[in-house]
Amino acid sequence: MNKDQALGRINFLSEEIEKHNHLYYVVNQPEISDYDFDVLLKELEALEAQFPEFASEHSPTKRVGGDITRKFETVVHRFPMLSLSNTYSEEEIQDWENRIKKSIDEKVEYVCELKYDGVAIGIRYQNGLLTRAVTRGDGTQGEDVTNNVKTIRSVPLKLKGDFPEDFEIRGEIFMPLTRFLKLNAEREENGEQLFANPRNTAAGTLKMQDSKIVAERGLDSYLYGFYAETNPFKGHFEAVETALDWGFKAPTPKNRLIEKTDSIAGIMDFIHYWDKHRDDLPFEIDGVVIKVNDYGIQKKLGFTAKSPRWAIAFKFKTERVETQLESVTYQVGRTGAITPVANLKPVQLGGTTVKRASLHNADQIEKLDLHESDYVYVEKGGEIIPKIVGVNLEKRQPIAGKLIYISACPECGSELIRREGEAQHFCPNEKGCSPQIKGRIEHFISRKAMNIEGLGAETVDMLVERNMISNYADLYELTYDQVLQMDRMAEKSAENLISGINASRDVPFERVLFALGIRYVGETVAKKLAKYFKNMDALMSASYDDLVAVDEIGERIAISIQQFFLDDYNKGLVERLRSYGLQFELKEKEGASNVLEGKTFVVSGVFNAFSREEIKEVIEMNGGKNVSSVSSKTDYLLAGDGMGPSKLKKATDLGVKILSEDEFIKMIG
Ligand code: IVH
Repeated sequence: MNKDQALGRINFLSEEIEKHNHLYYVVNQPEISDYDFDVLLKELEALEAQFPEFASEHSPTKRVGGDITRKFETVVHRFPMLSLSNTYSEEEIQDWENRIKKSIDEKVEYVCELKYDGVAIGIRYQNGLLTRAVTRGDGTQGEDVTNNVKTIRSVPLKLKGDFPEDFEIRGEIFMPLTRFLKLNAEREENGEQLFANPRNTAAGTLKMQDSKIVAERGLDSYLYGFYAETNPFKGHFEAVETALDWGFKAPTPKNRLIEKTDSIAGIMDFIHYWDKHRDDLPFEIDGVVIKVNDYGIQKKLGFTAKSPRWAIAFKFKTERVETQLESVTYQVGRTGAITPVANLKPVQLGGTTVKRASLHNADQIEKLDLHESDYVYVEKGGEIIPKIVGVNLEKRQPIAGKLIYISACPECGSELIRREGEAQHFCPNEKGCSPQIKGRIEHFISRKAMNIEGLGAETVDMLVERNMISNYADLYELTYDQVLQMDRMAEKSAENLISGINASRDVPFERVLFALGIRYVGETVAKKLAKYFKNMDALMSASYDDLVAVDEIGERIAISIQQFFLDDYNKGLVERLRSYGLQFELKEKEGASNVLEGKTFVVSGVFNAFSREEIKEVIEMNGGKNVSSVSSKTDYLLAGDGMGPSKLKKATDLGVKILSEDEFIKMIG
């Protein structure tokens, strides 16, 4: 392929990918499969690597992230980012509309839209290209988060159609609820602190240094404003509608996400509709926004010091009820983390009966200054589990004692610990505390770990309570007769259970590693470790330096792994698992060898016989290691066509051997 052809193909692929991206993430009507989409993306990646001079800042390959922002630069807004005046009262909406009617002679049209609960963003487009994305900050200046915003699939990198030369789009970045729940489920599995709500998570995500993580988090957006030196539109509605044609994710009247009306009745109807239906949305809103449509009238109405007179936000009241605290119980999780839970006198809230509310941790109880039998206010709010937001002090009994946080584990009596910098208390008795024992076994048998069919949480509970097992290794000593003796255990179920346990001996090494339940070693980390160390012994004897040399393994994970294997009890369990025949070695694919043992490679450019990912896999399969940048420790720079010139220069300067694809193939035989 010559340069012209390459450029043509790159342009074609970029447009095609962005088209399908838009169909999937904005229009919600995909036309091709995920697989076909990946094929296009891979081809573009390969071409950009081969012809780096054509790899544009606005290429869809930027969506996967990888750019690191060490420091977010401060940027002064060209148009200040004001906030909205808020109200919780319908009467005040009525007053606002009356004021407008009084000062404007003509008929006024309003646009009603959702008040998305996320983070405000201002995105500048010049000649149809996304050039800068800035957070609201203090309204006058914000931070440049362009690299991170570029990974958000519903934000166009290049515009379609007939757009103004230079303008700014304002909108909200948020985290859809399913992504938020998934993220927290993963964090729980890894024993990490949970995020409080989608809004904070979106804000935190937007400020991460590594845009690759931002890309994985699945943020989304809706736009709500157009700003330019000269504005081609008559009003707000038209601007939003047109922005849709340029490729933005904008609300449409189809699902009542936006609506035009010229009456207070229409405004109220929109408010009532969304107050009732907001839980049906896949993201959170905290109210609706009403704006005067016509830009000319907006100008006449002008601004107060902080906010425009032409817009107002109606915020939904988070329903709040009062009820009495009956007791506080303390739950012990798989990792030993203690969660206090308030047991409440049952009360109706948002259509459900609430009996319990999360109290999060000791600090939260202290902050609320909870006393026994207090009357408390409970809200459902953005969080999924209802929470206590305050105490009715007038109703407090004079003799009521202050709630004292427990100092011993409610399950096993061990003294609780609280590690520096962590909000949660922990029970340190990993091996003797029943919920921790059960939790670890449940994790071990779970689908993504050993996937032991025929065994569920209830049976694990029973087995532990009857002292038939006290750790996951004990599972492999269970006999059919023992199991059959248990209550409600039919012959068939006992058979299934034993055969499920037997079958788990074939579960691949990386899943065995995940099943061990080492803190912070989730599914992905386990895969990386398995691939790198190849067997359990190599991992067990790995030094700290060996561990952190693995891609994406940092200090926290390395320490956790070392601690796990230093512990005699854990070592005993692992040895028993070995003796029961579990997979302790990575099953090498065909063509594997050790010929590249100890050799470090940097792969650059495009190859004939392999894709870049394939060639990296071949290096690892043959015992070699891939690193991303050339240093004095690199053994080889594996050079494909169109390799990055800076890599080549660095390798030459440092005397790193440059290897062609043919030489590499000879090397691995
Ligand atoms: S318009 C000058 N429209 O609410 C008016 N804001 O307090 C600028 N927000 O920081 C804002 N949904 O992050 C507008 N449909 C919407 C909105 C919206 C959410 C947020 C925005 C802003 C805050 C205003």
